[in-house]
Amino acid sequence: MVYLNGEWMPIEQAKIPVLDRGFIFGDGVYEVIPSYSGHPFRLREHLVRLQSSLDAVRIANPYSPDRWSELVREIVARNPWEDQGVYLQVTRGVAPRDHAFPKGVKPTVFMMANPLVTPPQSHRDLGVAAVTVADNRWLRCDIKSVSLLANCLLRQAAVDQGAVESVLLRDGLLTEGSASNIFLVKGGVIITPPKTNFILPGITYDVVVELARANRLPLEIRQVAEAEVRDADELWLTSSTKEVLPISTLDGKPVGHGERAGKPGPVAARMYQLYQDYKRTVMRAPADAQA
Ligand code: PDD
Repeated sequence: MVYLNGEWMPIEQAKIPVLDRGFIFGDGVYEVIPSYSGHPFRLREHLVRLQSSLDAVRIANPYSPDRWSELVREIVARNPWEDQGVYLQVTRGVAPRDHAFPKGVKPTVFMMANPLVTPPQSHRDLGVAAVTVADNRWLRCDIKSVSLLANCLLRQAAVDQGAVESVLLRDGLLTEGSASNIFLVKGGVIITPPKTNFILPGITYDVVVELARANRLPLEIRQVAEAEVRDADELWLTSSTKEVLPISTLDGKPVGHGERAGKPGPVAARMYQLYQDYKRTVMRAPADAQA
């Protein structure tokens, strides 16, 4: 069952007018929220990020945080899978094609849930291939916009080379992945770029930073030069669906040094474990403590 503008229906029945500005201009924002055994993960944080995306593109939030929380819980309850990925998007609405904002138009709200597809065990055990690509996106990568053409092209560049993700570089610095944030480990220190307009402020990124701090793992949030990416002991990607996933080759070369080269590293394994433990605690907490 999906949700469209106040109604629940099977996905085949969900239709939007062709003049929806999401369709015509990519004029909208979205969120992807994982739900484990009926518990939406970090729901409040996703809704805060949704609000910042809406503010940035000047679309009035159609619902209060409480209403959004109810809707997210309801879509999870209405769908059968144990773990789900909830996708929601808000576009500026339907209006004759004109770049300037239309007046008096209601935003279009769409939500769907899918079975949550996390990486297969082989990816966890062996790590995944990634390639570096020049980050040619716009300067507001902090907005979770549905205008994802650049991200699609960047991801496809990775797939064309047999890799699962592209690691993006802008002016010689690491930004993020085409649909993930990137962390590296050097000499036992976890390093990741700061949250600026050049990256999406990932919810998983925040969890990883919090877990590193809580467990006193050395952590530096700072700009990362391309050379450091290429010389890292470990590289990981993080996202709501991929969680914490080790990258084992970059541009066809093994990540890391010595015997460990090309194999997922120990800090990634530790962080993955901390992440799983954290998920379990959240799932035990009462619903209202989570959102
Ligand atoms: N993408 N950076 C980009 C460009 C992303 O698209 C995503 C997530 C992330 C990680 O954010 P989070 O940890 O909040 O999932 C970083 C989602 C999963 C998607 O578009 O499917």
